[in-house]
Amino acid sequence: MAQIYTGKSEFIALKNGLHGRTKLTMSLTGIGMWRTDPNPVGGINFAPNPYCYRCPLGKKHPECNLACADAIEDIIKTATSGQPAAFIAESIQGNAGIVVPPKGYFKRVKEILSHYGALFIDDEVQTGFARTGKMFAIENFDVVPDIMSMAKALGNGAPISAFISTAEIADTYTRPGASTLGGNPVSSTAGLAVLEYIEEHQLMENANARGEQLRKGLKDLQQKHPIIGDIRGLGLMDGAEFVKPDGSPAPEELDSVLEAMKDRGFIIGKNGIGRNVMAFQPPLVITEEDINEVLNALDMVLMEQQL
Ligand SMILES: Cc1ncc(COP(=O)(O)O)c(C=O)c1O
Repeated sequence: MAQIYTGKSEFIALKNGLHGRTKLTMSLTGIGMWRTDPNPVGGINFAPNPYCYRCPLGKKHPECNLACADAIEDIIKTATSGQPAAFIAESIQGNAGIVVPPKGYFKRVKEILSHYGALFIDDEVQTGFARTGKMFAIENFDVVPDIMSMAKALGNGAPISAFISTAEIADTYTRPGASTLGGNPVSSTAGLAVLEYIEEHQLMENANARGEQLRKGLKDLQQKHPIIGDIRGLGLMDGAEFVKPDGSPAPEELDSVLEAMKDRGFIIGKNGIGRNVMAFQPPLVITEEDINEVLNALDMVLMEQQL
């Protein structure tokens, strides 16, 4: 869509981002373990990701003055034709380890892109549909993207994906676009039911309240358990980064804790480039009691393992 609208072909993506497994989206992915195509598409450049806990530029926020956003302008000037089609990013990087950009990041990026006529594609596949306390995570950043991609939670298990754009951009797609499974009525009905359920049951409010409870509980655990180096997230998309005393990633310790939690009946995710981030992306209907239970169990396991 971005290529059709702009008539350009180059892209900028973020290091540690994940965008999918088709030829182009895998080429836009910045995680080695998910780049399994030996012949990726060219014309793609990667910018440093806005990962304040381990800043790839070795800087500290806010003194950095959003140097990672400014790096995109440098890439446009030095590594592209000067007119890329678009920049693509997850509004919160999921597989990178629940990396939440600092406030102001996307605003600065959008200003730079607008200057060069490039679009902003917001990947909401993990973050969309109430997960972060807003319908879409980008709403937390006060920026309107040009194109948004979405899937996963929209179907609540039913296979469905979608994109949204402005009429001006979407209207440039004029050729036939039918596909075998596109517009599937069963998936579409599931998607509509999910949207209704989110609103009727105030899942955005629940994601906010339960996310706050979870992060506060994790912060309390951090006081007792030095293995927890950083806690970050928005709504019910939260991460606890496991680190050794010298601050380096602690993936073995995390694996051992996740196994013990599984034995107690809790399946928790794992992500991060160092495979050391405990990732909480639970069902949005999770209750206050559920969160207390997981926090208590985690406290016990960390105590048992003397972490
Ligand atoms: C952030 C993000 N974008 C896009 C995708 C889409 O991937 P796929 O090509 O498997 O549908 C995923 C899937 O895990 C994802 O997490």
